[in-house]
Amino acid sequence: MNKDRKLIIAGNWKMNKTVAEALDLVAGLKRELAAIKEVDLVVAPPFTALSEVSKVILDSNIRLGAQNVSEQNVGAYTGEIAAAMLKEFSVRYVILGHSERRQYQQESNELVARKAIAVHAVALKPIICVGEVLAERESGRTEKVLETQVRGSVAGLTADQMEETVIAYEPVWAIGTGKTATTEQAQAAHAFIRRTLASLYDETVAKRVRIQYGGSVKPGNARELMSQPDVDGALVGGAALEVRSFSDIVKNSI
Ligand code: 13P
Repeated sequence: MNKDRKLIIAGNWKMNKTVAEALDLVAGLKRELAAIKEVDLVVAPPFTALSEVSKVILDSNIRLGAQNVSEQNVGAYTGEIAAAMLKEFSVRYVILGHSERRQYQQESNELVARKAIAVHAVALKPIICVGEVLAERESGRTEKVLETQVRGSVAGLTADQMEETVIAYEPVWAIGTGKTATTEQAQAAHAFIRRTLASLYDETVAKRVRIQYGGSVKPGNARELMSQPDVDGALVGGAALEVRSFSDIVKNSI
């Protein structure tokens, strides 16, 4: 495929995998994906596996992601983890504002924006998730919701920081449900997000930002989704937990 933007496919492992299981999975991915140069590959294990996984992928084409971070740099914030601490484990990407965190931890766009600033402050790259719930889509509010989420979640980022930020469009109704957005729905949402970025920054910035699709991505639908002009990769949940399915998604996307 001929896109100016390099595809980025990330596995969001969510709250799955012990350290031993994580090492197994990543050893398999290293083996299966060693030859892949066309795609930026990222795995985001739980915090508890970051240290061990980071050692194993050091000499590979797989980069490390985390699933969350504190908006604070240091101090009395029990249970929180700072961006600089993630950097110690060679983490490169941090998933922010996933719909599960927006739902269960009440994360707001404002909080996501503060976290994105904290992530950039230590030169890591945020993957900022946005996406509408089913009722919003069905009542024709998808674009309004996406615009509010994108505007709010990137507030305060400079143009340079924006270019180094990944957006993940994850329609909430497609997450873990086996329902995937149609290629037309995905492309339309991605193009809309890019237009929103162009209005917030400019065309050049908007053209450089990679926008991943997430929500029931599988080996069987990856190629069609990735072939859309504004779809620049995938954020994969369930299918990222097995060597075969994640590797096939990557290979089918090229
Ligand atoms: P599934 O691929 O399991 O639908 O999850 C998508 C997701 O939430 C990735 O962040």
